[in-house]
Amino acid sequence: MQKRKRIVCVVGTRPEAIKMAPVIKALKSQPWAECRVVITAQHRELLDRAFASFGIEPDADLDLMRPNQSLSEITGRAFIKLEQALKEEAPDFVLAQGDTTTVMVTAMTCFYLQIPFGHVEAGLRTGDMSNPFPEEANRLFASKVASLHFAPTLRSGNALKSEGIDPASVFVTGNTVIDALMETRARNPELPIDLPEGARLILMTAHRRENFGEPLAGAFRAVRRIIEERPDVHVLYPVHPNPNVRDLAYSSFVGLDRMYFSEPLDYVPFVAAMDAAEIILTDSGGVQEEAPALGKPVLVMRQETERPEAADLGVVRLVGTDPDRIHTELSRLLDDKAAYAEMARGGSPYGDGKASVRIVQAIASRFDLKFQEPALREFAYEA
Ligand code: UD1
Ligand code: UDP
Repeated sequence: MQKRKRIVCVVGTRPEAIKMAPVIKALKSQPWAECRVVITAQHRELLDRAFASFGIEPDADLDLMRPNQSLSEITGRAFIKLEQALKEEAPDFVLAQGDTTTVMVTAMTCFYLQIPFGHVEAGLRTGDMSNPFPEEANRLFASKVASLHFAPTLRSGNALKSEGIDPASVFVTGNTVIDALMETRARNPELPIDLPEGARLILMTAHRRENFGEPLAGAFRAVRRIIEERPDVHVLYPVHPNPNVRDLAYSSFVGLDRMYFSEPLDYVPFVAAMDAAEIILTDSGGVQEEAPALGKPVLVMRQETERPEAADLGVVRLVGTDPDRIHTELSRLLDDKAAYAEMARGGSPYGDGKASVRIVQAIASRFDLKFQEPALREFAYEA
């Protein structure tokens, strides 16, 4: 019998855990694959809890997070610890997802150690190195050195090909976040707060570095105004633990009854919150992908998005952080039924729930191995 292939999945933050969980499960179902999970723990509690939601236990933990870490600090620590870890693991193949510091360092370390690297969620681009910062640069570095590229959409696949990447190494798979969302929704998640009859819920999240300071403060002023003007509007805001967000968030909404702060929600209740919300206001990447699949209008507090597919469908709208614009767009969705219905049509341009199976099939074929069909059925969620 052929030796099993050792595949290391490197994961650093909450969204990577959510989006890699279906891939890890699919890999673990394959007899030819020895799947190992190495966490940098660029995030600590957020990452641990996200993996706990999917019942995944890491095999190695580099424990890198420090309070209020700078980009250089986390990058430096990650390079040193990850090189050691990958030398010890001696993988045949390494996978990482997205555009965080962890992903850029994983890609570059694989390049230095000459280990083949597969990039999940490849080919997202805004074309603007400062939006999002530093993620646009991180994913460009990852694409330069990856040997397999798993693009979530045709557009992202084409972006890679237009940059001169060998088309034979690009697989359009869908985004694994839709796999995770479908699995979680099937668990009938429950909303973590009690709302009065007739309450209209807005769910808000915010964490982008380029929004720290005045952009975020302006967005918060707009939300405050909406709560003050409308007695039926309730806002649920699970606050990201980054101190640059947290301190401003708490000080911006003092004295408002209908503002519900929470710690970051575990994935299962967060899916319930997305489902219960009338409108979602966010600067998150993952939420832009999930909410359309749930038929929820999303206002995105960013100047640009690397996920234009849902905006093109008309179910996501970029509103930036200008307080008047956010106030106008929220008011429009709250008052204008036709405008609301148009954005609540939903759609799932990011996947059909089978991305992780396609990724593992592509890895199997790289090693001239076959994906095992019984497991394919196990992981083929119905769309
Ligand atoms: C990181 C990623 C960003 C991703 C986001 C997902 C980079 C540069 N940024 O941003 O691309 O969209 O994660 O949420 O890779 N903290 C905690 N506990 C945690 C997590 C964070 O206390 O579990 C606090 C710490 O003070 C930490 C700070 O947040 O130093 C910032 O964490 P970091 O990973 O550097 O940046 P994020 O803003 O979370
Ligand atoms: N999420 C969560 N709990 C929360 C907020 C978000 O589980 O309180 C999930 C969300 O559903 C999505 C992911 O975390 O799958 C997005 O993470 P984040 O916004 O931190 O990062 P980004 O996607 O912007 O990189």
